[in-house]
Amino acid sequence: MRSHTLASRALVVLLVLVAAALALRGTALAQQAPQLTASLVRELPTDPESPIWQQARPAAVPLTPQVVALPRLAQVSVQSVSVRALHDGQRIAFLMAWSDPTRDARAVKPDEFRDAAAIMLPVGDAPPNICMGSPGQTTNLWHWKADWQEDIDKGFQDLPQAYPNFSKDYYPYAAGSPPFDAAKDFASDEAKAYLIGRAAGNPLSAVTKKSPVEELLAVGFGTTTHKQRQEVEGRGVWSGGRWQVAFVRALASGDAAEADLAKRSDVPVAFAVWNGANQEVGARKQVSGFLTLRIAGEAAPPAAPPAAAPAVPTRVPLAYEWWISIAVALIILVLGGAALAGYWARQREIARRQERE
Ligand code: HEM
Repeated sequence: MRSHTLASRALVVLLVLVAAALALRGTALAQQAPQLTASLVRELPTDPESPIWQQARPAAVPLTPQVVALPRLAQVSVQSVSVRALHDGQRIAFLMAWSDPTRDARAVKPDEFRDAAAIMLPVGDAPPNICMGSPGQTTNLWHWKADWQEDIDKGFQDLPQAYPNFSKDYYPYAAGSPPFDAAKDFASDEAKAYLIGRAAGNPLSAVTKKSPVEELLAVGFGTTTHKQRQEVEGRGVWSGGRWQVAFVRALASGDAAEADLAKRSDVPVAFAVWNGANQEVGARKQVSGFLTLRIAGEAAPPAAPPAAAPAVPTRVPLAYEWWISIAVALIILVLGGAALAGYWARQREIARRQERE
């Protein structure tokens, strides 16, 4: 067999092997969940603006629109969220930070939607279905809401805040006069009966909130339920077009319906963000895939001096690497194939000319 045919065949085999190796590496990386490390610190930050957060390695988590259940989100209005985690051996704290040019902290008027963020943790060991678990796979959801934060920071935001020219027809048993202070003026049981949600004990209607984070349980979407024991603290601040929200809870769970993080080192965790300005609520949101939360026993490595400008972490998420590997594999195949085709054509031309001579 002429030497150049042998060489070109060997080259084809080599190209295919390289491309296959890259593609395999790419797919392996694609299946690996990005990691979020919760390092051990002496003092756990509960304030989203605390410098202690610099001790946590940020993970840049890409978000995708929720397109499984109606109402779907057509496209993301928040591209990614930066997440940090720390623990002090007793409690764990997460910090979610994302860009949002508007601060939407009220949902009183029918066309008002508030900004919000959530963390999803499995109650059991197995990674649950990303769509909020499924029967037999309970998920624990920590749902921070900007309007609850506003109620805590500025008092219960109600009709008078949304409709300053509010006036009343007739509110039996309400003390005082408009604009009413819901907590004070509707304190009597008789008056409360006129605030149905409140009378029914609906947490969304509660005028005093202990925490801006509501703890929920779900065994799949459509089953979200307020958890009796509410144990997650939190605080969110908006400045310079960015929300920063801290969530804090004990590592050990107070009841069986809660994700127990005390005895575990690797836990699947997922995130979701709602943008009120884009009328996002409930199912209409952007979600992440699962990350692996690594609860590290060792203290955080000394914080690298903060990188100058970038607002978001510089480390691209693992996901993009697999994509690059496969793209390179494809380019090698196409270019290699084209080069070989050219080479063979020339060889054939030479052979034909030799035959003619
Ligand atoms: C792609 C998978 C998902 C689907 C199809 C989905 C679907 C839904 C639907 C239909 C609702 C409204 C009904 C209900 O309250 O159950 C909802 C609410 C909710 N979801 Fe999801 N979801 C998904 C992923 C997630 C993830 C990953 C998280 C958290 C990290 C999350 C957190 C929540 C929360 C906190 C609520 C209540 C929101 C509110 O009351 O405004 N979901 N979801």
